[in-house]
Amino acid sequence: MGICFSGRIKSQTPPPTGLNSQYASSNGNENSYVISSKVSSTLRTEGEILQSSNLKDFTFSDLKNATRNFRPDSVLGGGGFGSVFKGWVDENSFIAAKPGTGMIVAVKKLHQESFQGHREWLAEVNYLGQFSHPNLVKLIGYCLEDDYRLLVYEFMPRGSLENHLFRRGSYFQPLSWGLRLKVALGAAKGLAFLHSDESGVIYRDFKTSNILLDSNYNAKLSDFGLAKDGPTGDKSHVSTRVMGTHGYAAPEYLATGHLTTKSDVYSYGVVLLELMSGRRAIDKNRPTGEHKLVDWSKPYLANKRKVYRVMDNRLEGQYTIDVAQKVAALALKCISLEPRLRPKMEEVVKEIEQLQDFSNLDSNRSGSHNGSRQRRRSVGDSGNKIANAGAYLRPYASSPTPYSTKI
Ligand SMILES: Nc1ncnc2c1ncn2[C@@H]1O[C@H](COP(=O)(O)OP(=O)(O)O)[C@@H](O)[C@H]1O
Ligand SMILES: [Mg+2]
Repeated sequence: MGICFSGRIKSQTPPPTGLNSQYASSNGNENSYVISSKVSSTLRTEGEILQSSNLKDFTFSDLKNATRNFRPDSVLGGGGFGSVFKGWVDENSFIAAKPGTGMIVAVKKLHQESFQGHREWLAEVNYLGQFSHPNLVKLIGYCLEDDYRLLVYEFMPRGSLENHLFRRGSYFQPLSWGLRLKVALGAAKGLAFLHSDESGVIYRDFKTSNILLDSNYNAKLSDFGLAKDGPTGDKSHVSTRVMGTHGYAAPEYLATGHLTTKSDVYSYGVVLLELMSGRRAIDKNRPTGEHKLVDWSKPYLANKRKVYRVMDNRLEGQYTIDVAQKVAALALKCISLEPRLRPKMEEVVKEIEQLQDFSNLDSNRSGSHNGSRQRRRSVGDSGNKIANAGAYLRPYASSPTPYSTKI
């Protein structure tokens, strides 16, 4: 979830305490508890959102039992607005089950007394409660009780892309090039679905920690707290407070607050660069001039002979220079300063599909450009057993400050 510039709202506004207090005027103001939804073609109040969704309405004690009282050693992740815990429920009744039996779920518990947290909670219920797509995480239910706000999702056994790309250690071996393309494709399909005419939704917080992976490395977008309906009628953009994450947010959005689907395409380009390079969008631990991935990589992306400098050393021998050049050209288009020059996500999907075909052809011919050097094995190499299969992901705290921070 994202955090607004100040956190001021958090401290000035009393926490919402029940359904009635949360109905608000339908003026579309970001401070009201009304969320517009083109799926239903109306502005919907909180009550309507909760009633219309097919989600299970959990009690707080259900979820307390399911997570064994939110045990610290079952934390899967966390951010500014709360923590995510692993839990177990019976797949039919959804009643808490013994650990190791029934269905595994991920339970996000928001900090209490947060106005912004409540709004993001409601946005997730609104969007994920209506959408069903293989590249969006499935929301199973929610809990709204007193000051408690929780969300219950399908459990994603391999956790976030962020962990796989950037955590070091035996649990997280480097992802192979094939798997990186697979994840890039899945995430692109998720965004393309949101942007499609039918829904017209802008995701607004596309980044590696919000891309979750199932046991087969299928990518699913989660964390819809900042999602927003796109412009209606002949409007070109929606005007919003600037929220999101440094390093991923599009420059024109940062400068003006004008949000379009092309803002998501920019963030997608940044994630593509992270997949190519294994470098974080922002990393202040790197030498001067290399802190911002976009700024550092741009000159290389534009130069066909220097593209390999952007590529992750750990991928040596897994891609051809042709493929690297094509991915670089795509990433460069996505991060264009001029939003109109960025491709639509549907086009990105097609390009990544072609790259996948191309990569498969090449690996069949085993013609990689630098295959002579011994390379380290990575997860997803053919013949290499997938490490960590079905394993429980160790709890990790969220990224410390040298990396991307919330806006
Ligand atoms: N369904 C899930 N399955 C497994 N891990 C999850 C799940 N949902 C979230 N997580 C973990 O928790 C982290 C934070 O979740 P997220 O929904 O992005 O919350 P936040 O609003 O704090 O950013 C993710 O990056 C991921 O590591
Ligand atoms: Mg998140």
